[in-house]
Amino acid sequence: MKDFINIATVFSGIGAPEQALHKMGVKHNIVFACDNGEVEIKKDVDEIKAEIASLNNDEANEYIKSIYSKSGKHNYMKDSYFANYDINEKNWYEDIRFLDGKPYKGKVDILVGGSPCQSFSIIGKRAGLEDTRGTLFYDYARLIKEIKPKVFIYENVPGMLTHDKGNTWKVINSVFDSLGYKVYKSLLNAKDFGIPQDRQRLFVVGFKDKNVNFEFPQPINLTTKFFDYLEANNDVEVKHYLGKKGFEFVTNPKYRNRARINPEIIQTQKANQQFNWNGDFVFVPYEEIANNEKILERAYVSEWNGRRGVIRQLTYRECLRLMGFSDDFNVVVPNVPAYRQAGNSIVVNVLEAIYKKIFEAVNIYED
Ligand SMILES: C[S@@+](CC[C@H](N)C(=O)[O-])C[C@H]1O[C@@H](n2cnc3c(N)ncnc32)[C@H](O)[C@@H]1O
Repeated sequence: MKDFINIATVFSGIGAPEQALHKMGVKHNIVFACDNGEVEIKKDVDEIKAEIASLNNDEANEYIKSIYSKSGKHNYMKDSYFANYDINEKNWYEDIRFLDGKPYKGKVDILVGGSPCQSFSIIGKRAGLEDTRGTLFYDYARLIKEIKPKVFIYENVPGMLTHDKGNTWKVINSVFDSLGYKVYKSLLNAKDFGIPQDRQRLFVVGFKDKNVNFEFPQPINLTTKFFDYLEANNDVEVKHYLGKKGFEFVTNPKYRNRARINPEIIQTQKANQQFNWNGDFVFVPYEEIANNEKILERAYVSEWNGRRGVIRQLTYRECLRLMGFSDDFNVVVPNVPAYRQAGNSIVVNVLEAIYKKIFEAVNIYED
């Protein structure tokens, strides 16, 4: 019996699964993580696979990294990941398509990942792993087969269930059922797990041990509101305050579905939420910033709901808080990728609740 958990993640992003263990104070070792930072490479996938076929694992990893570095695009996801988690370069992979799970067989307790949703648009209709070939979901399922983790957690948007009139889910569901795991599926909403964000996601949890009895966590009452997650207005950089055009856009009733001001529960955070004035905004009464010349220089002062004041975007620290990340999470990337990374993540509190139930159901520390 060991006293830590071996976790591996793919589509790792800013590591919500790792952050959940960190917040819970659960000792863990990161076996590997993998994320290409949404960088596209031009070279043919099959050609690369042929090139790495004769290389050992470390050589293949280095070769794939060299291809990515030649793309000229920067992997900001890797920057965020390395600034927050304990991982060696050789355990970081750029691209799941070239990640061989076989060297990790039996070495992972929990494998977590949610493939990007654009990847299921080409799934066929026959139902079977081969039918998902060419999608990133295929590689996720392949890794489960190769690694055989004790438990896997898969996350995706609810649209996966209805895409292509339900055919996509039929195929994906049949693949999950064919892995030889005991599989549980449920839709969970972040607002039912302590975070005031209306974000529903599909979670699939699978156990290698088929005798396990698992139950998804039950909803808990929400005791916090949007306002509890905000930074002090005077601490917020002035760039976040809206000028005239922005103020008029977000207060226009026509755009209420796109932009909301001072909601109790925010809408689902999106990767591009802070552009074109989409997402959730904070109204700050004039009295609160009346002495702050810098803000008044930049911000447009007008009326909203019968009160005079200014409006600002959420800061990325606030976005991270509303995804369940604690304030010790280091932000080391520029504005645009910072918002994008927060919006793409999994709500950490939901993962914490799922982990608790997993740890009740299975002895995760068993060798
Ligand atoms: C929806 S996000 C998941 C974010 C993550 N769950 C988190 O906690 O932040 C999907 C991620 O898949 C990554 N990705 C896309 N294609 C990939 C590939 N071929 N190999 C590895 N990662 C990939 C993207 O960069 C993105 O970070």
